Amino acid sequence: MLRDSFGRVATDLRVSLTDKCNLRCTYCMPPEGLEWLPNAQLLTAAEIVRLVTIGVERLGITEVRYTGGEPLLRRELVDIVARTAALAPRPQVSLTTNGIGLAKLAGALAGAGLDRVNVSLDTLDRDVFKRLAHRDRFADVIDGLAAAHDAGLRPVKVNTVLMRGINDHEAVSLLGWCLERGYELRFIEQMPLDAQHGWTREDMVTADEILAMLTTAYRLTPDDPEERGSAPAERFLVDGGPARVGVIGSVTRPFCGACDRVRLTADGQIRNCLFATEESDLKAALRAGASDEELAERWVAAVSRKRAGHGIDDPSFLQPSRPMSAIGG
Ligand code: GTP
Ligand code: 5AD
Ligand code: SF4
Repeated sequence: MLRDSFGRVATDLRVSLTDKCNLRCTYCMPPEGLEWLPNAQLLTAAEIVRLVTIGVERLGITEVRYTGGEPLLRRELVDIVARTAALAPRPQVSLTTNGIGLAKLAGALAGAGLDRVNVSLDTLDRDVFKRLAHRDRFADVIDGLAAAHDAGLRPVKVNTVLMRGINDHEAVSLLGWCLERGYELRFIEQMPLDAQHGWTREDMVTADEILAMLTTAYRLTPDDPEERGSAPAERFLVDGGPARVGVIGSVTRPFCGACDRVRLTADGQIRNCLFATEESDLKAALRAGASDEELAERWVAAVSRKRAGHGIDDPSFLQPSRPMSAIGG
C-alpha cells in the first residue's frame, strides 16, 4: 500500500506518456514550445506497463489515468490502455487529453478498455482558442469530444481554465453548451505551473468568482459531499440536477488533505505531488535491473515522504521546476 506519513493512501496513479504537446496553452507553455525530453529518456511502452502492473498488483492502485503533455501523441497509447485494462484486479482506466486526434482514436480506445475521458476546452470561440492555444485546432477538439461521447465513454468531462479578460466571459455559455451535449463541465482555478512562471494571484479567476458568474444563469445546489470522496472537483447540481457542474479550486479551496494521487512522469520519476520538490528515479533503478519488489519498495518510500499540501500560500513557496506538461496534469 502507498501510505504517506499523514495517513493518506495513494490509489490513483497518473502517468504522463510524453511531455510533448501540439497546443501551446498560455497557462502551460510558451508559444515556441519547450525543449522536449530526448526519446531515450522516455519510458518505453513495455517499461510503462511494467511499472503500472507493479502499482496495480502490489501497491493498491485502483485507477490509472494517462496524461501528458498530450497522451494521444504517443503511438502506443491504444496498446498501453489495452494492457492496463487487462490487469487484475482491473483498474479504472482514464485519459486526460486536449482532444486533438480523439475523433480518430475514441472508438479504438473504448474497444481497448478505456473507461472515461477528460478533455480540455477553454472557449467556444475559434479566435479565442487560437489566441489561447496558439494553434487553429478548435474544430478538432469539438470533433474529439463528440467522438468520445459516441464511442460510449462516460462520463465525458470537460476541463476549463478561466483566465481574466481572456475567456472569463464564457463561463455561462460553456456550461449551457456542455449541458446540451451531456458533458460534465469542471472549471479549474489556474495554478502556478506554467513554464514561463507568469502566474499571478490577481489574474486567477477564483472558485467564488466562478460560482458567482454561474448563479446569474443557473440554480446551483451542492452535491452530496459523500459522493466527492477524494475528487478535486466540488460538484453542484444544476437547476436541481441530475446534470452537474464542478469547480476545481486547487488554490483557494485546496483538497490536499484528501489527496489519493501519485504521479509517474514520462521519464520514469515518481512524484508524490504536483508541487513536489523531489522525485524518485524508478527508471534508473529499472534500467539497472531492479526487481519488481525493489521497484515497489522505492515507490513506497517515495510516497511516504509526501508533504501535507501544495504550500502555494506559504511565503517560501517555490514553483516546481518542471512545468505541468512535463509533470503530467
Ligand atoms: P477525475 O478523476 O475525473 O476527477 O479527474 P481529475 O479531475 O483529477 O483529472 P484531470 O486530469 O481532468 O485534472 C483536472 C484538474 O484537476 C487539473 O487541471 C488540476 O487543476 C487538478 N488536479 C489534478 N490532480 C491534481 C493534484 O494532484 N493536485 C492538485 N492540486 N490539483 C490537481
Ligand atoms: N493550472 C490549472 N490547470 C492547468 N492545466 C494545465 N495547466 C494548468 C494550470 N497552470 C489543466 C489543463 C488540463 C488539466 C490536466 O490541467 O487544462 O485540462
Ligand atoms: Fe498541451 Fe495540455 Fe499544456 Fe495545453 S495544457 S499546452 S493541451 S499540455
